[in-house]
Amino acid sequence: MALILGLETSCDETAASVVRDGSLVLSNVVSTQHDLHERYGGVVPEIASRAHLERLLPVVRAAIDEAGMTLDRLDAVAVGNRPGLVGSLIVGASAAKALAWSLGLPLIGVDHVLAHLYAPALVNATDQGSESQAQVRYPALGLVVSGGHTSLFLVRSPGDVTLLGRTIDDAVGEAYDKAAVMLKAGYPGGPRLDALAQTGDGDAHRLPRPLLGPRSLDFSFSGLKTALLYAVRGTPVGRGSSARFERDADDLEPRAIADLAASFQQAVVDTLAIKIKRAHKQLAGDGCAVQSLIVGGGVSANSLLRSRLTELSEKLELDLYLPAMSLCVDNAAMIAGLAYERYARQDFDDLSLPVVATTSIQAS
Ligand code: KG4
Ligand code: ZN
Repeated sequence: MALILGLETSCDETAASVVRDGSLVLSNVVSTQHDLHERYGGVVPEIASRAHLERLLPVVRAAIDEAGMTLDRLDAVAVGNRPGLVGSLIVGASAAKALAWSLGLPLIGVDHVLAHLYAPALVNATDQGSESQAQVRYPALGLVVSGGHTSLFLVRSPGDVTLLGRTIDDAVGEAYDKAAVMLKAGYPGGPRLDALAQTGDGDAHRLPRPLLGPRSLDFSFSGLKTALLYAVRGTPVGRGSSARFERDADDLEPRAIADLAASFQQAVVDTLAIKIKRAHKQLAGDGCAVQSLIVGGGVSANSLLRSRLTELSEKLELDLYLPAMSLCVDNAAMIAGLAYERYARQDFDDLSLPVVATTSIQAS
């Protein structure tokens, strides 16, 4: 049996978790910094790293307590060391190194994007009948949809992942957050816009489904964002900062705002579904019969995306792996879970483990 402590500080969540054997989540403590960044409408890196510094040790203590553990029972310390905001990553990596060194434990650095794809394989100790780990059938298609990433992957095993396509501009979560600002839906934008969209008509406005050519597996959400801006505020007169719009979200009825939110959500989900179908078909054409669809990242909490992916995977005869709602957004359980793959191989890092702004996953 291996008990791994995971730490996560790549963006605006300070998180720690204890996971048993890469599967059972004994504790999952997440301290979100939404309150600190709300007034700026986005994450301010300097504020994020300072808050991680203040919050990390209490969060680690809470994760150890919640798991009913003591530090001396741990077998390894894992940390998300890439990708992310470098100043924030340094806080988690320094704490992980100090813990590993002082407790005489192995240290394992984990790629945050790979960890998102591992989240569906985790089960919460608090859930009924939670002991058995989902046995994912490979090869799988992987989709990471978060505030920083929108990427499609070919997953041959949890550690063997190839990039098939990614966003060339905004990540889908970022587009959600900006759309929520346009619609004055509140912060954090993604969940607020999702809730608003459920009260509107997704066919009310025909917003673009950006596909980038017939074979592309890349994504682009900035054009959709601009289309929404014009639908909300009218076509501007002038350009750039001197552009003047006909109206503002405040001038619209609540019903009209809900219809715009629903139409945006529908365009996003349609686009993601089209790209998944396209990747599935292209891989089949290359002789790679994908068995499963694995999804991770904050936007995998989205209500319409979850239901559409359920339908789509049935149609394509794929096993669908979605994370539990508590494991969609940034958390440390996915870090401790994925680290078990390397723990089992006794593949460890030393105290020179760097932090890196970009993911380690390469295109083929
Ligand atoms: O995975 P995550 O916590 O952080 C990154 O690694 O980036 O994802 C956060 C993103 C935010 O942009 C947030 O607005 C979005 O996930 N998000 C959602 C929903 N819940 C969170 N987007 C759409 N619908 C949701 N229900
Ligand atoms: Zn993330």
